[in-house]
Amino acid sequence: MIVVVGGIKGGSGKTTVATNLAVIRAAEGRDVLLIDADDQETASDFTILRNERQPEAPSYTSIKLTGAAVRTETLRLRQKYQDIIIDTGGRDTTSQRAALTVADMLLVPFVPRSFDVWTLEKVGTLVTEMRAANAGLRAHAFLNRTDPRGHDNDEAAEVLKDTEALTFLDAPLGTRKAFGNAAAQGFAVTELKPQDPKATEEVMLLYRYVFDSEKISRLRAVGE
Ligand SMILES: Nc1ncnc2c1ncn2[C@@H]1O[C@H](COP(=O)(O)OP(=O)(O)OP(=O)(O)O)[C@@H](O)[C@H]1O
Ligand SMILES: [Mg+2]
Repeated sequence: MIVVVGGIKGGSGKTTVATNLAVIRAAEGRDVLLIDADDQETASDFTILRNERQPEAPSYTSIKLTGAAVRTETLRLRQKYQDIIIDTGGRDTTSQRAALTVADMLLVPFVPRSFDVWTLEKVGTLVTEMRAANAGLRAHAFLNRTDPRGHDNDEAAEVLKDTEALTFLDAPLGTRKAFGNAAAQGFAVTELKPQDPKATEEVMLLYRYVFDSEKISRLRAVGE
């Protein structure tokens, strides 16, 4: 399974989601490759920190790729890993487009603020364009950094549900200090001590949407 965490808005939580999914997947015993396709290299920095601070924790392989190499190297490496997670930058880059030509799934976090949600139409156009090259590309929008109260979450969810090119995943991540605290120690939020049970529950729901949907479609494909 090749999952791209992308979009065209900076700071929406792509790296947080990509690194959490990579760690949780690795903790399930899978052989995971995390590809950092963002020149800011935040995912790589997280991995370096994790390897230093948490040498005993479940590990994955991490590499940096840019431009067209994101496609060619991912195609080569897909035989060697069970799952590949690609973190992209917050812009419509050659790297992100290259990733989307080989991906099974695109995950796009949206912060429930108008400026973020306004990028939805452009993300929809990007997905439609990429499907010309990769017809099987599944694309999902979900909310990150939701508010503890108020109407913004619901309003943003309604807008996200309304797009044709992306399917809305009802698996929001709340605005929780635990995400930043975990990252600062090289942990996924599920590994943080003491635990933030809500953050763990939220990220596990998202994780299951992403990886169980793969199991379901694989079972369908073999007619089970
Ligand atoms: N659910 C959340 N709750 C609290 N803080 C969060 C949450 N998600 C992300 N953050 C914080 O928001 C900041 C931006 O997150 P992150 O780096 O994952 O975004 P990004 O989309 O990868 O950004 P960029 O576009 O710069 O690559 C980080 O400090 C991160 O810890
Ligand atoms: Mg990032």
